[in-house]
Amino acid sequence: MRGAQPLIGVFDSGVGGLTVVAALRRRLPGASILYLGDTARLPYGTKSRRTVLRYSQTNVDFLERRKVDALVVACNTASAMALDELIVLAPHWGVLEPGASAAVAAASRHIGVIATESTVGSGAYEEAIRRLDPRLRVSQRSCPLLVPLVEEGWEEDEITGSIVARYLEPLLAEGIDTLLLGCTHYPMLRGVLERVCGPDVTLVDSAESTGALVERELRAGGWTDGPGPGPASVRLFATDAGPRFAKLAERILGEPATLEWIDVNEPAGTLGSGEEVETS
Ligand code: DGL
Repeated sequence: MRGAQPLIGVFDSGVGGLTVVAALRRRLPGASILYLGDTARLPYGTKSRRTVLRYSQTNVDFLERRKVDALVVACNTASAMALDELIVLAPHWGVLEPGASAAVAAASRHIGVIATESTVGSGAYEEAIRRLDPRLRVSQRSCPLLVPLVEEGWEEDEITGSIVARYLEPLLAEGIDTLLLGCTHYPMLRGVLERVCGPDVTLVDSAESTGALVERELRAGGWTDGPGPGPASVRLFATDAGPRFAKLAERILGEPATLEWIDVNEPAGTLGSGEEVETS
């Protein structure tokens, strides 16, 4: 119902998409959010387009059965490989276009993109940036070790610093002035990325720019003008859950989290709660 607060569905292959939820919470505190992390089938970043599309469609269907008013594909790999072919009834957005626009706005001549293997292989960021400004140079680098490091909670570990430096070396040697974080997990590494890049490189975070786009569009559509049906809430579903994921969710969101373990292909009539996994 317009004039009320929306229920926003958000999905990612894992918990990294909660960086988008955190941005949405800051910008739209009255909105309620249903988040689905497809942790049983993670990673998407090494899989084919066909598989990523199939997984993404089941995630969309799961959220749409719960009557979301809007939907965010908070996974760079799914946004790069599947967004165009997904069947979604609600207004929806991926993270790729907002990330590319923010990078183009920040860059003066050369953008470095770091992402998963599948996102880099799809060339989707490069295409999106070139469509917006063909004069900009784009260099890409896949960084497959960064997702597991974040999942391990090693954002500030020395090893992470060395690995980040190794991945970024060719991009920095080529003289990038902007670095686009093209994976949902990477905002968690902002500190180390900033240290390695130094003050001359601007970091652009697709989670933050997606939050800004969704806020703009929902406000323009009159979705945020009234009171919500109850206090705004975040409900977290995962296709595989353990204390490790719940802990990571708490770190990203900065608030207590309880994951509900669900079957994304639930049979009809089982809409409801899954088994709960708490952090303690
Ligand atoms: N969510 C993925 C992305 O943003 C990273 C994790 C994965 O490979 O599934 O690209």
